[in-house]
Amino acid sequence: MGAVPLGLPSDQDASGRSFGVAELERLRAVIDSGTLTATKGTQTPELESRVAALTGRRHAVACSSGTAAVHAAVASLDPEPGDEIVTTAITDMGALTPVLYQGAIPAFADVDDTTGMVTPETVAAAMSERTRAVMVTHLFGLPARVDEIAAVAADAGVPLLEDCAQAYLTERAGRPVGSFGLAACFSTQQGKHLATGEGGVLVADDDAFARRARVFVNKGWPYGESDPDHEFLALNLRTTELASAVANAQLDGLAAAVARRQATVGRFLEAIAAMPGVAAPVVAAGDAATWWRVPLIVDPEVVEGGPRALAARLSERGVASAPRYIQKPAFECRVFREQRTFGASRWPFPLARPEALDWSRDRFPGTYRYLDRVLILPWNERYGPDDADAVAATLADALTELGVAA
Ligand SMILES: Cc1ncc(COP(=O)(O)O)c(C=O)c1O
Repeated sequence: MGAVPLGLPSDQDASGRSFGVAELERLRAVIDSGTLTATKGTQTPELESRVAALTGRRHAVACSSGTAAVHAAVASLDPEPGDEIVTTAITDMGALTPVLYQGAIPAFADVDDTTGMVTPETVAAAMSERTRAVMVTHLFGLPARVDEIAAVAADAGVPLLEDCAQAYLTERAGRPVGSFGLAACFSTQQGKHLATGEGGVLVADDDAFARRARVFVNKGWPYGESDPDHEFLALNLRTTELASAVANAQLDGLAAAVARRQATVGRFLEAIAAMPGVAAPVVAAGDAATWWRVPLIVDPEVVEGGPRALAARLSERGVASAPRYIQKPAFECRVFREQRTFGASRWPFPLARPEALDWSRDRFPGTYRYLDRVLILPWNERYGPDDADAVAATLADALTELGVAA
């Protein structure tokens, strides 16, 4: 194949997104109603009940971002300053900074070097007497081993939170992710399966926890209750009726969009199955992957120059990809490394156990090995079979050029 630009659909614009008449009709209804605030509208309650239903939860709280959803979840645990939340260093920063804002410490667990996700073993190893909760992140629409991790958390008597920002309709052992813990958080940011530009939703079953999350995103104010007061330190992290209108229209098409992702990614993975040097994720029986992105493991022993060299060859042929996914583990970012938080206080880091801040390389072998070997291919619901075939053919060409015999 020659170096023809492929013009693949992008989730950053209309080529790879599915916004249309349904969104416009709902937006018009909101504008006509004159009620744009989520505290008085109808779109936001509808969105909340529908997202709760996706995961079989009793409650949902819509908010302004996935970060806000994580913040509401952590705040609703009401950790004591210095308490630890076991989590991963391979995630979006929006899943970590809320922990610090609430005075808690992200205690990083190492990850499996083929999935990039925490495991029951790494979570158990990262726990301490200060552990207040475990947060599991499902990366790229693939499920973490959350059923087993839930058991580890339950044994230790601490709640589990799930970060499902990248994992709509993903299943683990026949069960939707987002249904395993005390609460789960979704993002509706531009590139997610369900997109509104910015937005998030928290789901939970427990009445008191869900109430606290709702009050937290409302500046501590319990709308609709008798004798309300600003109950505790909190922010305005609300969504708007406009965003919820778009989310509801998007929800109508979510299952079909996920099915399209599964069909085209399935076709792509079949096409690349025999290619040496690149390994596709393994989806266990009973699990369902919904492919936010397609993470490949590139073996640098076989592919000279590893993911970076392969990404450069793909880019020359019009296929964008991201070696490493994130450039470095979260704990290497300045906010952690230099403890840049509130003035010169470094708070809450001075409250942490020293071991919780020991980010020596040898404690995170899986994390470093995964980042060194992963190559993330973008994907979205507008990819067709031809796009899947073109990406596979381009990958084959790039591998050949790197001297890998097919
Ligand atoms: C795993 C994960 N958690 C949290 C977030 C934060 O979501 P948002 O960007 O909507 O604040 C993201 C999003 O980018 C994410 O991918």
